[in-house]
Amino acid sequence: MTTPDPGGSDLHLDLPAEGARRTALAQALRNAVRSGRLAGGTRLPPYRTLAADLGLARNAVADAYAELVAEGWFTARQGSGTRVAEGVATAGVPADAAGPAPARLRHDLLQGKPDPASFPRGPWAASARRALAEAPTEAFGPGDPQGRPELRRALAGYLARARGVRCAPENIVICSGFANGLRLLASVRPRDWAVEAYGLPFHHDILRTAGVRPHPVEVDEDGARTTELPARAGTLLLTPAHQFPTGARLLPARRAAAVEWARAAGGVIVEDDYDGEFRYDRKPVGALQGLAPEHVVYAGSLSKSLSPALRLGWLVLPDHLRDQVLAAKGLRESWASALDQLALADFIECGAYDRHVRRMRLRYRDRRDQLVAVLAARAPEVRVTGISAGLHAVVELPPGHEARALAAAHAAGLALDGLSSYRHPAAPTPPREGLVVGYAAPPETAFTRALGALAEVVGRTSAGQGTVVSAATP
Ligand SMILES: Cc1ncc(COP(=O)(O)O)c(C=O)c1O
Repeated sequence: MTTPDPGGSDLHLDLPAEGARRTALAQALRNAVRSGRLAGGTRLPPYRTLAADLGLARNAVADAYAELVAEGWFTARQGSGTRVAEGVATAGVPADAAGPAPARLRHDLLQGKPDPASFPRGPWAASARRALAEAPTEAFGPGDPQGRPELRRALAGYLARARGVRCAPENIVICSGFANGLRLLASVRPRDWAVEAYGLPFHHDILRTAGVRPHPVEVDEDGARTTELPARAGTLLLTPAHQFPTGARLLPARRAAAVEWARAAGGVIVEDDYDGEFRYDRKPVGALQGLAPEHVVYAGSLSKSLSPALRLGWLVLPDHLRDQVLAAKGLRESWASALDQLALADFIECGAYDRHVRRMRLRYRDRRDQLVAVLAARAPEVRVTGISAGLHAVVELPPGHEARALAAAHAAGLALDGLSSYRHPAAPTPPREGLVVGYAAPPETAFTRALGALAEVVGRTSAGQGTVVSAATP
């Protein structure tokens, strides 16, 4: 089979006009390989050609190529230039759902998935059966874009009780997961959004595609620096309960600063509460929305608590925004199945959702404890940072170590993401480095083996290198 060889020809890559363009180039190249757009064996254009095409310094392109070689995406051989490594494309997998695909996947610690084997099939089937039996005839017609009233009532009760959200069922709009909700909000809010400097690249892409101008806000161990919001921003996208993916919880003073900003500037905060139920060291902090319901859009989803396969989420909106979002949705529901909504309403009302969340909280907590203990024993130079919460953790590494750790992980057949790939491409300063470890999904025995592989990789990468340890927030 002959492999495509672009040589000096065009390689189309979308880079931001300003900001950390070298990091953005490396990310764009990873995405092109991951998606299969750059096939295994393809020869990359020479540095100087790509640098000229993109208006970058030659060194910047050389550095990006070297980074991808170190991570295993590219190979470099004297005389044959830089080529895409064979067998690393994961066509069809969204860029942020897959880390560097190992040559042979043996251990999967990619973040983003709850435990699929723990889906409560029996209780869900019972709820679906009851919902079908009891659904009024009109439920089988074209759906109401606001969502089934049964589900909105159940959610209003649940969110008030479990997350401190202040809302009536009329303020809830059901959507097809957070991604769908974010798209809707981007279409109705003005163009300038403050976003956390770390986040899900998929969400950054949604905003970019909608024409949003992003203003990254720096993130540290106390969450986003909401005391330094850019004056132009009218909307602020925030993960206050558990910053994604760095794992910080937003300091109370910064929660207050965000609310103050929204009140003073007439701004809107979009609170992405993607894993708010999963806090292990203490009771979860209530939603920010409870402090200022007229300025905060609370967004929730089943993707971490139950399953991303259901594609169900919800927005809790102030009145004026609810009307705009409904206008953007149109006259018919095109995304979220009314029958799944009815099943979820029953699932919440009969207590099955609470039981499932409690069960998973214990399981994920145990997983996180195992991760911390294994690294403490076998790679004592590093620590897991962020609060004890959620379905993933960050192992922070000193500058220059992430690419080496990812390359070692790749060689060991261990799939995980580097922290720097979650850095917003327009963020001005270089990313912190680390590994983002998803611990929820693997089966028990596979998890123990994956932890062993991780400890080996981290221990080997950091041995004798004076690894920086950042403080874990209590
Ligand atoms: C930061 C963040 N927000 C929200 C979500 C939920 O997204 P969705 O409901 O579109 O699956 C996820 C993934 O589960 C996430 O990682």
